[in-house]
Amino acid sequence: MSGLFDPYQLKGAKLRNRIAVSPMCQYMAQEGEMTDWHQVHYTGLARGGAGLTIIEATAVSPEGRITWADTGLWNDQQAEKMAPVIAAMKKWGTVPGIQLAHAGRKASANRPWEGDDHIPAGELNAWTTIAPSPVAFGANLARTPEEMSLEEIARVQAATAKAAERARDIGIGWLQMHFAHGYLAQNFFSPLSNKRTDQYGGSAENRGRYLLETLKAVRAVWPEDRPLTARFSVVEFDGNDEVMLADAIELLRKMRAEGLDFVDVSVGFNTPHAKIPWGPNFLAETAAKVLSETGLPGTTSWFIASPKDGDALIREGKLDLMTVGRPMLANPHWPYAAAQELGIADPAWKTLPAPYAHWLGRYR
Ligand code: FNR
Repeated sequence: MSGLFDPYQLKGAKLRNRIAVSPMCQYMAQEGEMTDWHQVHYTGLARGGAGLTIIEATAVSPEGRITWADTGLWNDQQAEKMAPVIAAMKKWGTVPGIQLAHAGRKASANRPWEGDDHIPAGELNAWTTIAPSPVAFGANLARTPEEMSLEEIARVQAATAKAAERARDIGIGWLQMHFAHGYLAQNFFSPLSNKRTDQYGGSAENRGRYLLETLKAVRAVWPEDRPLTARFSVVEFDGNDEVMLADAIELLRKMRAEGLDFVDVSVGFNTPHAKIPWGPNFLAETAAKVLSETGLPGTTSWFIASPKDGDALIREGKLDLMTVGRPMLANPHWPYAAAQELGIADPAWKTLPAPYAHWLGRYR
């Protein structure tokens, strides 16, 4: 079986190893456009040696941003600003991916280090939030969203496809739909936030309709040889977990039939009352079950920080990629440290560019 440092190929995406950088919002954009921070951040991550680097949740429409400082792809200027970042990421050896998102009822919040709460209506950087039903998340995100009309649903789906076209045209090699974490797609899928009585609400099939239709709209414009993937929450830890997992597996099977290539299994974050059993690798077995029951390749993150654990999960066939977030913030050269820890031959050359690898390989 392959391990963490063996290459991985999915369609035309060729990863040098099985380390993926999880999407992580930087909250440093201006009008949705990347800034010099993103150039530094993403080029640094690319240099660090991960096979795949997924750019943060990027909004498909202005009201779909979590905060006013999120990146977006709802206009061409945003794509123009992102293009050189993508080119640099490729140059330094990582496959550039992106997560396309709409924050639904969690949108219009302050940046995490400035409160992480909804900005009151009427204040600077506040806007009207939308969701399948007028049900607030609660806690720090207590504003009630407006219920989306059928026209609005179609508008956001069309905006998602348009953002995918922009991502395609600037050379992004891996597309991840954000169907997780209590944002718009999860708001539709979850009975906690979806109280609709039309074709988008009620049964699991109806609650999955928004996701499936959006996926189809994106598949129609996204090249067949580039992976179309989703981050999807399959468990909420709210007491309804068995039903949610079964519904999620069923929906993923349908998504696979519509062209989904890969899934990143995650947690719902659609209620402040969840009892999440945080701990090392806590989602790994759930993810393995989802992959085996759907036939999809995939991954998960959340506290999979040990290279040995990641390597073992891949060798056991439970995950295809090890996805890391905060370890890459702590040390953007984390793949080098992981290669050292696993006893990989020539760890520096296996992970870092020559101006670093030469010296680290020489004076050990
Ligand atoms: C995140 N996370 C996240 N998830 C996501 O799907 N889209 C996003 O844009 C973000 N943004 C984000 C920002 C920051 C600063 C952090 C720390 C996290 C969650 C992230 O992708 C990952 O799942 C978690 O960090 C758990 O993995 P680690 O950190 O335990 O390896």
